Amino acid sequence: MLPETKTERLQKGGAGADPTEYTECYAYRSAVAGAPGEKTLYCEDTPVAEIAGAVGTPAYVYSRTSIERRYRRLDRAFGRLPHAICYAVKANSNLAVLGVLARMGSSFDIVSGGELDRLRRIGVAGNRIVFSGVGKTREEIREALGYPHKAAKRVGILLFNVESEAELEVVLSEAARYVKTGGAKPGLAVRINPDVLAGGHKHISTGHHHHKFGVDWETARRMYLAHKNSPWILWRGISAHLGSQISEAKPYRQALVGMAAHVRELGRKGIRLDSIDIGGGLGIRYTDEQPIDLAGYARTLAAAVRPLACRLLVEPGRWLVGPSGVLLTRVIYVKENRGRTFVIVDAAMNDLIRPVLYDAKHPITPAARSAKRTVSNVDVVGPVCESGDFLAQDYALDEVKTADLLAVWGAGAYAFAQASNYNARRRAAEVLVQGRRFRVVRRRETYGGLVREELSGGQ
Ligand code: LLP
Repeated sequence: MLPETKTERLQKGGAGADPTEYTECYAYRSAVAGAPGEKTLYCEDTPVAEIAGAVGTPAYVYSRTSIERRYRRLDRAFGRLPHAICYAVKANSNLAVLGVLARMGSSFDIVSGGELDRLRRIGVAGNRIVFSGVGKTREEIREALGYPHKAAKRVGILLFNVESEAELEVVLSEAARYVKTGGAKPGLAVRINPDVLAGGHKHISTGHHHHKFGVDWETARRMYLAHKNSPWILWRGISAHLGSQISEAKPYRQALVGMAAHVRELGRKGIRLDSIDIGGGLGIRYTDEQPIDLAGYARTLAAAVRPLACRLLVEPGRWLVGPSGVLLTRVIYVKENRGRTFVIVDAAMNDLIRPVLYDAKHPITPAARSAKRTVSNVDVVGPVCESGDFLAQDYALDEVKTADLLAVWGAGAYAFAQASNYNARRRAAEVLVQGRRFRVVRRRETYGGLVREELSGGQ
């Protein structure tokens, strides 16, 4: 195969979408001090360059207003249907972000004791927490059973989404200890594996029969019926999570048809479920995706749930916080290698693993844009010693030079949350913006902090 020419690559990369056109609370505005025609990127009313100046780079920036608006919009989409939005903590578990959502009235979906601990620290009551996950340990289950509930003298969480018969045995034994000492029976749901294929990448599909999540319909039925009149637990719901970055309502409809049939059948057998949890997965627009139409999504869910008189639970993560964040990074060097241009920046795969892990496309734009823009196809790469360390490949980027500030879009979800210390890099600072103010909500790590947990080596 002949090596592709630069022009061919340019055509393939394309100038791409302009994220400011579909990302609320971010805009280019005329720069006060800049050259004529120059525009600078604002998050709400704060220039991102000011944040980078104060905090350094790389840094994640989140717009509080954007998160609030998105929560409100999703909440309204369900109208009067009894529902609870259970934010999937894994998407972005910064305490300040959790606090913003808690104040909006959000409930939460957790998958670990660590996430439960975070909610405890900001005072979220147990009746607003559902616990999913294939591998809850006995200790985690015990923690959740003893978690402060809202009702006085009560402890526990809203729902355990149980994912196997083995896990059910552990929940039963822990619940028994609990109830015997005067505790209320915990509410449980079985997580179904509905055998529906959905999601933006094979690593983020979860509801197909070959995935580890949930149980098949037959096993679920057996679990419900075997413990129909249990003195230790109360069946309250049925749950599923199909995958992530889903862009159509169809898989939700498919899964809900089966779940509804189950709720009816169990009802006839004397098990009255009062909640249906359809998980998260609502996709967003990073570049050219057509995101799911919110009204259509809400209508699909409501149509399935309303006739059953159940409460709908949803567990969105990405949709609520993904578009609210950008990752700020500075150009260290620009170099050419055999006709390919590499823009080497100070953020790396350890700050944003999504491009190499899921082939994800995050737009990248300079924080300052001049009226005359020259675009060329480049690879935006970090300093980490791996060829998989790229933020974008063959990407049509505005011309940039050393020290220019760039914004990597769609970095509010699964960005910091999946960051690592690879190459002994410090995880970057996180900043929450509201209007003209901003606040560091997680300091950049220190080298001392990176070795704190290690036994004094070399001695
Ligand atoms: N509920 C459960 C049980 C989940 O496992 C997940 C995500 C969610 C809710 C939230 O899904 P969302 O609404 O955010 O799509 N790291 C990947 C995404 C992994 C999602 C895992 N589970 C990424 O960066 O694309």
